[in-house]
Amino acid sequence: MTRQFHRGSILHFPKATIAPSDNYQYLQDGLLVVEHGLIQHLGDAQDYLDNNPEVQQAVVQHQGLIIPGLIDSHVHYPQVEIIASYGKQLLDWLNTYTFPAEQQFVEAAYARAQAEFFLQQLFAHGTTTASVYATVHPQSVSSFFEVSESYNARMICGKVLMDRNCPTALQDSAESGYHESKKLLEQWHKNGRQLYAITPRFAPTSSEAQLAKAGQLAKEHPDSFIQTHLSENPTEVQWINELFPDYSDYLAVYEAHDLVRERSLFGHGIHLTDREYLALASSGATINFCPSSNLFLGSGLFNYQRAQANGVAVALASDVGGGTSLSMFANQADAYKVCQLQQASLSPFDSLYLCTQGAAVAMGIETQVGNLNVGSEADFIELDLQPTPMLSQRLNKASSLSEKLFAINTLGDDRVINATYVAGKQVYKKGQHYVATAL
Ligand code: GUN
Ligand code: ZN
Repeated sequence: MTRQFHRGSILHFPKATIAPSDNYQYLQDGLLVVEHGLIQHLGDAQDYLDNNPEVQQAVVQHQGLIIPGLIDSHVHYPQVEIIASYGKQLLDWLNTYTFPAEQQFVEAAYARAQAEFFLQQLFAHGTTTASVYATVHPQSVSSFFEVSESYNARMICGKVLMDRNCPTALQDSAESGYHESKKLLEQWHKNGRQLYAITPRFAPTSSEAQLAKAGQLAKEHPDSFIQTHLSENPTEVQWINELFPDYSDYLAVYEAHDLVRERSLFGHGIHLTDREYLALASSGATINFCPSSNLFLGSGLFNYQRAQANGVAVALASDVGGGTSLSMFANQADAYKVCQLQQASLSPFDSLYLCTQGAAVAMGIETQVGNLNVGSEADFIELDLQPTPMLSQRLNKASSLSEKLFAINTLGDDRVINATYVAGKQVYKKGQHYVATAL
């Protein structure tokens, strides 16, 4: 691949920070140079072109705003087809909609078609990295990774582990779940840009034997990810008390089975005790803040301020199909409202950080993605700053970058994405139809 030169307004967060509003880099007229799928240079366009006039011909001028590809730290690809399913809270929603849908992924061809649709939709929504739940079927994971690999996308995925409290068609066993996960992990983790997450669905659907095997696998592969759900819904928490009476709280169940460490990603974390916040912080684990899902399923309000005050790492997530949009802009809008209901304001820089550099730092992948630093992988998107009449008028009236960003975050969805690039290659362009990759 030859060098590419992308010129336009550019915004990103170059480093880890607790104050994103004071630590962003904004170039009004910037130049992003990409070679071999990596960012080779970022700086002022005119300076670069004055020193390298011969590249002028190759420069691509972008009218919109260039930002890093967005990160969705918790999403279920088999649930895209049941997004917007009516009238249930978590446990009934799982039984009524989710478990029936997931049974279809026993067919590899079905899984592959859905993985293709899901990844194309992620790119259309500006997301280039996600931590993804497959189903209990190993072929749902290999299908996903095969499609992701065909786009050279940096994705995290894992086989769901469930050996109880769900339909028998979706059950594995402690032993089979361990061996199937290990095989997938050994095949896919760090294979190109693919990463593996050991994925016990949540404590109610795993026996202690299964959680112990998952913890054993995590110890055997300390650089792998772990993803699961934690304290999402009050009835679920009550069920944990009944299923695991010997443990002090929900997180203690995971701790006892060696599942709480760096690169452990816990979906939701709404109904936590003081002890759980402190234990999460000291372990280096991450909470996935899933605002649209928490509102849609009526699960509760995640207390972002409390998590921050306790030093717990947080990354934003869609949790589709519980969530109602794959757009990390729509999820930023919901995150803002969840904070407002708790008398707190989430700044537009804070929320963008939570689905770019902040998510990458929390997940330990910031040398690869989440920013536009030299040496990072060239995953970036161009935002359309005239996407709809409403947003165009609002942006024209906005005077500061903060005001513009807040309007985009609040009103944006897939319509604000003009183009998406993965490892320097365009994988989505507004108005252009993409044909499925030949596998
Ligand atoms: N808890 C266990 N499984 C799930 C799931 O698929 N979605 C959500 N939102 N919560 C869960
Ligand atoms: Zn989830």
